[in-house]
Amino acid sequence: VLRSVVVGSGSYLPKKVVTNDDLTKVVDTSDEWIRQRTGIEQRYNAEEGEYTSHLGYNAALDALENAGMDAQDIDLIICATTTPDNTFPATSVAIQNMLGIHHGVAFDLQAVCSGFVFALTTADLYIRCGKAKNVLVIGAETFSRLLDLNDRTTCVLFGDGAGAVVLTAEEGTGDVSDRGILTSHIRSDGRHKEKLFVDGGPSTTQTTGYLRMQGKEVFKHAVGMITDVITDAFDATGMTAEDLDWFVPHQANKRIIDSSAKKLHIAPEKVVTTVNLHGNTSAASIPLALNVAVNDGRIKKGDVVLLEAMGGGFTWGSVLLRW
Ligand code: ACO
Repeated sequence: VLRSVVVGSGSYLPKKVVTNDDLTKVVDTSDEWIRQRTGIEQRYNAEEGEYTSHLGYNAALDALENAGMDAQDIDLIICATTTPDNTFPATSVAIQNMLGIHHGVAFDLQAVCSGFVFALTTADLYIRCGKAKNVLVIGAETFSRLLDLNDRTTCVLFGDGAGAVVLTAEEGTGDVSDRGILTSHIRSDGRHKEKLFVDGGPSTTQTTGYLRMQGKEVFKHAVGMITDVITDAFDATGMTAEDLDWFVPHQANKRIIDSSAKKLHIAPEKVVTTVNLHGNTSAASIPLALNVAVNDGRIKKGDVVLLEAMGGGFTWGSVLLRW
């Protein structure tokens, strides 16, 4: 069987760091409140004129270099983003052009914070069907541009950044000892669309709009949904929390991460947490966290890595892979 194997990872953060203390100058909040409720200590913000495609392009370059792969060998680019440069064309096409790639196909995928998990799942299907050989999967966001600085309940939570992986088709045996994506499970349920959304768009207000969230409602659903799709991953592979080397969840909130890990009996030392440094970067949070753990030597070839995310829609999903 064909497997989608991660052969490189990369990331990019804008230069500007915004600490919790910096935010107290523009909004009525405190470092203590933000840390206690979310675990966030700082986030990064793109400069004016620095777009999602610029962040995504730099992350893609880093991943290609890490993979030792020429950009011309890429035949599919999927960019997960909720903050595209423009309504159209797709940000992935801008990145494709920046990379000097003029063959193959590039498209964006919109599943908010679950975007990277959805994009990996889609890329895996392309590879397993023999429709793509080398795929660049990018999560890139400039969420700072969707924030209403008059709403302290949301504007302290999010940041900007990008991460990417390169997937390559490799022949495997079909059992869980293979490298590559072993199973993935994605879900959505639009009954929850009012709980986390942006109040603008081309078809409704002809403005970009601002992020709106019922934080408590999101929190209430998050852990259950995450647990469900991870249970699906365990059921599909016969693996358990014991078999995992690393758990790399979407980085929205330390309390959600810790509660999910606890409920699933995943040991705290296996959990990769970067929400303290990056804030919630939506579709970029998982590849950013992956790259931190790859660069500091935690994630190594052959390790079993579990990814999960949940976000607006709601959308949610998991990917279980062997690095
Ligand atoms: N600074 C200081 N005080 C604040 C702030 C702030 N930034 N924001 C809200 N408060 C105040 C509120 O006004 C309220 O004051 P009051 O009691 O006097 O009315 C008090 O803090 C408590 O507010 P709550 O909204 O009840 O706070 P809660 O404990 O629910 O925490 C939070 C809010 C952190 C947003 C929480 O609900 C949460 O983590 N939800 C999950 C949402 C999430 O992470 N979403 C990310 C996107 S979705 C995803 O990626 C999965």
